[in-house]
Amino acid sequence: MKKILVLGGTGFVGAHVCEKLVRDGWHVTVPTRRRNNARHLLHLPPLTVLELDVHDEQSLTQAVVGHEAVVNLVAILHGTEATFQRVHVALPQKLSRACLAGGVKQVVHVSALGANAEQQEAAPSMYLRSKSQGEAVLRQAASGGVAGVGAGTGFELTCLRPSVIFGAGDQFLNLFAQLQKVFPIMPLAGAQARFQPVWVEDVASAVVRCVSPVSPGLSAHRPAVFELGGPEVFTLKQLVELSGQLSGIAGGRGRWVVGLPDWMGRLQARLMSLAPGEPLMSVDNLDSMKADNVTTDQCPGLAELGITSTALQPIAQNYLSNRNPEHGLTGLRMKARHR
Ligand SMILES: NC(=O)c1ccc[n+]([C@@H]2O[C@H](COP(=O)([O-])OP(=O)(O)OC[C@H]3O[C@@H](n4cnc5c(N)ncnc54)[C@H](OP(=O)(O)O)[C@@H]3O)[C@@H](O)[C@H]2O)c1
Repeated sequence: MKKILVLGGTGFVGAHVCEKLVRDGWHVTVPTRRRNNARHLLHLPPLTVLELDVHDEQSLTQAVVGHEAVVNLVAILHGTEATFQRVHVALPQKLSRACLAGGVKQVVHVSALGANAEQQEAAPSMYLRSKSQGEAVLRQAASGGVAGVGAGTGFELTCLRPSVIFGAGDQFLNLFAQLQKVFPIMPLAGAQARFQPVWVEDVASAVVRCVSPVSPGLSAHRPAVFELGGPEVFTLKQLVELSGQLSGIAGGRGRWVVGLPDWMGRLQARLMSLAPGEPLMSVDNLDSMKADNVTTDQCPGLAELGITSTALQPIAQNYLSNRNPEHGLTGLRMKARHR
């Protein structure tokens, strides 16, 4: 049985990726910082959970051995310059060396729309700059190894850059729906920022296509970078309004969403970052929104991977209208904190 290691396999996207890989005949190994974080994956029989610190290069190198392919889904949305560097740059560096030492043939790295390995400093936020740098270090290793390890060998690398991802359990539409249960109006920073939400199942299918031996369109795009977006573009304000309407807030009208001027949005984000636990919004998130989160014509996308992108409304309606009313704002933040 072919073996694949999925870093970040316990997360929102990771769980869908693991399920599809298992169905596609892979034996999946999921490293996690806490075994308990993987309890929702234990029903998948050909799946091994490894409790380890992925930042420890020796443990990571040992974990990679024996796997033909690796998927990297580890990321953070909030942090300092140092934590973004550790998770989005130093980890891909360690992973590159581990993959070269372990003779891994294929690596799929899930990055984000707005990252650009060629123009790393042009990105507007710490999140996107570090995502860009992470892509760059993997590309360097893929194209011929790094000094002292696997020089001249490399591996086949695919970088996937999704827009915001929706699906049951997302921390985007669900979060805005929860907020509307608590607050009578929605003051919103970055209201005019544009997004092209993509369904989590489509992203997971893209990952699986990238490690499949016969993937339509893939071989024409090496080294491969795919931008993943859904069929529609929305402003953030439209998405917040939609989340309220679809979850039946105020009789299906949703709350009144008021766009904040930039200075007020930044003040709001700064105050939110001071609250205990995982922040709901940070100034760096607002910086990321300075660039439209929509696909460009510079890179291929879901269509080139043979995947038809799925519209948001029917899917989101299903999970937002079935939300458990007991899962309030506190529930969301507790969940984030326990990651
Ligand atoms: N969700 C979106 O809307 C979206 C949009 C664009 C791009 N993406 C990208 O898609 C990928 C997956 O996103 P996701 O939403 O599935 O993320 P997620 O649910 O937050 O999962 C990320 C996983 O990474 C691991 N992790 C988190 N912080 C870590 C740290 N400091 N050190 C080591 N491991 C850590 C966690 O595993 P353990 O707790 O088990 O160790 C977690 O399961 C990421 O690369 C993300 O940037 C997501």
